[in-house]
Amino acid sequence: MKVLGISAGRPEGNSEILLKEALKVCEANGQEVTFIRLHDYYIKPCIGCEFCTTLLSSGKPPRCKYDWSEDDIRFLMDQIQASDGVIIAAPAYQLMPPGIITVVLNRIHSCGADNHTARANEGKNKTVCATIGVGGSDWVSLLLPLLNLMTTELIGSQMRLVDQMEVHGIPLKGMAALMPKGLERARLLGENVCAELGKPQHTYHGTQVEVCPICHSNLLEYRKNGRVACPFCDVEGDVIVEDGKMTGVKWDGGIEVSRWSKHGTAHHDNEMEQGTGIKRLPGHRFEFSDEHKKTMSAAIENVRNTYQPLKPPARG
Ligand SMILES: Cc1cc2nc3c(=O)[nH]c(=O)nc-3n(C[C@H](O)[C@H](O)[C@H](O)COP(=O)(O)O)c2cc1C
Repeated sequence: MKVLGISAGRPEGNSEILLKEALKVCEANGQEVTFIRLHDYYIKPCIGCEFCTTLLSSGKPPRCKYDWSEDDIRFLMDQIQASDGVIIAAPAYQLMPPGIITVVLNRIHSCGADNHTARANEGKNKTVCATIGVGGSDWVSLLLPLLNLMTTELIGSQMRLVDQMEVHGIPLKGMAALMPKGLERARLLGENVCAELGKPQHTYHGTQVEVCPICHSNLLEYRKNGRVACPFCDVEGDVIVEDGKMTGVKWDGGIEVSRWSKHGTAHHDNEMEQGTGIKRLPGHRFEFSDEHKKTMSAAIENVRNTYQPLKPPARG
C-alpha cells in the first residue's frame, strides 16, 4: 500500500526528521513510501472566485479557474488521492500549522477532495492519516487540532485520523534527533498507520490529551446556551464536573450528528436560512427575488466606487 509523507517544515528540519522516522517504519513493513517537502511546491492561493464550487453545484467535474499547468496543486492532490495513508508533519508558526497548508487546503474544492464529495462516497474512502507537530517552545496550542483538521480535510475523509503526536521545545534544526522519546513515538506512529491501512473501520491510536472523541482535539467552544461544542465537529454537549473539576463532556452524539456526516451536510446546505427570505437549496443554489437582485447589484456597484485599493509598486 502507498504511504505519503508530507513535511511543511524546513528542509532537513525537525518535522522531516520525525516524519522520515515514521516513513522508514512504513517501508520496513512493506509499504511503498513517497516523501514530499511542501515548500518545493508552488501553490497559488484560492481567490474565492467560486468557479469550482459552481461546477460542483451543477454536477460537473470540478476544476480550478487557473489552468492546472499554472501551479502544482493538481500534481500534489493526485499524490494525496492515490495514497492509502498520509502522514503530515508540520512546525508551529504562531501557535498554528504553517500557512502553506491552508493555501493547499483552500484549493481542494477544485480537486474534488472536499467533504461533500467525500460524503457522497461515504464508506468508499479508506485512506487513513496521522499527524506530527513540532514546536520551538511550548506555544503550540492550536498546532495539532488544526493540523488534524487540515490533514483529514486533505484526504477528503470523515475523520480517518489514526494517530497524532507532538514534540515541542526544539527550536533548532536537528534538535529532534536529541529527543529519543520523540523518535520512538514517531516510529510507533508509523506502525500505527501501517496497522490501519486499507481497513474500512479504523482504530485511533493517539495518546494526546483530548476531549472530542471524533476529531481527537483538546479544544472546546463555549456557546450562549450554556453548553459546549467541539469547534471542529460541531457536536454539542454538557461539561461534566466532579469535585469542582471538569472531568469530561457528555456529548449529544457521535460522528452521525457531526459536521462530518450527512446530517452535517444537510445542515450546511439546507438549514442556513437567515430569515431574509433567501433560501439555500440543495446544491448551493440560492433563490432571489427581483428586490434582492437589485439590492445586491447596487451594493456591488457602490462598493466598487468606494475607496480604490492601493496597489503594490511594480517589481523591477
Ligand atoms: C514564523 C515562525 C513562527 C514560529 N512560531 C512558533 C510558535 O508559535 N510556537 C512554537 O513553539 N514555535 C514556533 N516557531 C518555531 C518552530 O516551530 C520550530 O523551530 C520548529 O522546530 C521548526 O520545525 P522544522 O525544523 O521542521 O522547520 C516558529 C518558527 C517560525 C519560523
